Amino acid sequence: MSKIRTAFFCQNCGYESAKWNGKCPSCGEWNTFVEERVQKDIPQKQQDWKNNDSPSPRTQKIINLSEVVTKDEERILTPDNELNRVLGGGIVAGSLVLVGGEPGIGKSTLFLQNALQLKHIKTLYISGEESEQQIKMRADRIQNSNEQFYLLTETSTQTIFQEIKKLQPQLVIVDSIQTLHSPFIESAPGSVSQIRETTAELQRFAKESNTPVFLIGHITKDGSIAGPKVLEHMVDTVLQFEGDQHYAYRILRTIKNRFGSTAELGIYEMTGTGLRQVTNPSEILISQREDLLSGVAISATMEGMRPLLVEVQALVTQSVYGTPQRTATGFDLRRLQLLLAVLEKRGGFHFGVKDVFLNIAGGIRVEDPAIDLAVLCALLSSYEDNAISPKICFSGEVGLSGEIRAVNRIEQRIAEAEKLGFEKIFISRYNKKGIDFSKFHIEVIAVGRVEEVYQRLF
Ligand code: TYD
Ligand code: MG
Repeated sequence: MSKIRTAFFCQNCGYESAKWNGKCPSCGEWNTFVEERVQKDIPQKQQDWKNNDSPSPRTQKIINLSEVVTKDEERILTPDNELNRVLGGGIVAGSLVLVGGEPGIGKSTLFLQNALQLKHIKTLYISGEESEQQIKMRADRIQNSNEQFYLLTETSTQTIFQEIKKLQPQLVIVDSIQTLHSPFIESAPGSVSQIRETTAELQRFAKESNTPVFLIGHITKDGSIAGPKVLEHMVDTVLQFEGDQHYAYRILRTIKNRFGSTAELGIYEMTGTGLRQVTNPSEILISQREDLLSGVAISATMEGMRPLLVEVQALVTQSVYGTPQRTATGFDLRRLQLLLAVLEKRGGFHFGVKDVFLNIAGGIRVEDPAIDLAVLCALLSSYEDNAISPKICFSGEVGLSGEIRAVNRIEQRIAEAEKLGFEKIFISRYNKKGIDFSKFHIEVIAVGRVEEVYQRLF
């Protein structure tokens, strides 16, 4: 009789424990432990993706590093430059890439679209979520077809590997990893042990056959991929597809990459016929307007390695309730409260009796601290009901004592602002060191403190 082992897994981070816990000792979440059957008593060899056809090729011995022969990674270049960019220059042969995103954000669309465009690559798209008809309908919507595109609606890894052996694809896309199940594990699809096992099987397949595999994974509401963090260690690259469902823009971000930088990102727009690459994101994120409006300030931010100009909108009104309201969309609320405190204490503005609403246009979320200065100016502009010229932009971090702090890659930010036709940019005085500003035609205004910004602006 086969022996069944069970263990308790945290469904949030994948922590394994022999007994049930109320609070996960690893991630601190409550009530996340579920008992899962871990493994039937089957030798590891049989679980191999090749189903034990060949003897194990792994007879490795110790080798000196200098004896290792390196060769350039083989890469498949896709027609999608944004995807190539986030992967560090194309799809690496034999790599395992995890793509996370909230349901409905467009993961299936992105990869179906890419697979349909790769006309010379035999691609297998494995879907455990949608039927063949649904995928065909989506392909019709994207208006693309490809002779080399194959479809499999199956969830058992054993069947999948049998089909893969027959087809010999050059690229495999799995949509989604949460729907797969391995017959060697008893727990339900989507559970930590299933996800871990199916990913391990696909990893062995990718490495041994040198076929790149994309795993699509749903993200939990707190933003961690597939719940269990375990997957992130097992794969070569982790990408995250994010954006606000109510807006058209989507950002594909690199979280981890063994073959390139993690500071890359790709920007797309969801249209009626699939995703469109956005090559000049700054232009679309700044709303085109004729008349001057108070409460609007443009920030020269960086998203990874790309400069991105975004519009900050603020509304400051007399508070009607005892406790003033503060709302921020696309910006950290605590950071907003901090900036308001700086304005109150260092600038003598009375935000304590005002409701404050802040919004980053375009539905994107900005983490770059250089946006602080634009947020501050948008707040001041709305407070004073005095519009800032649309030809001015800002880039600087605001410190607790009201000082404007230096930010990284200032030259790139200034160059982007100049390219988009801005006439003035406010930066930190501390950013001036060692940089030759005479090469820019845009006027660079260096400021040291909040009060100085206010004087130069209004
Ligand atoms: P989908 O790729 O199914 O998301 P995911 O796989 O991440 O769950 O995309 C879902 C949304 O995209 C859906 O609400 C419809 C929309 N969509 C478009 O707007 N245009 C299109 O051409 C396609 C195919 C989808
Ligand atoms: Mg999907």
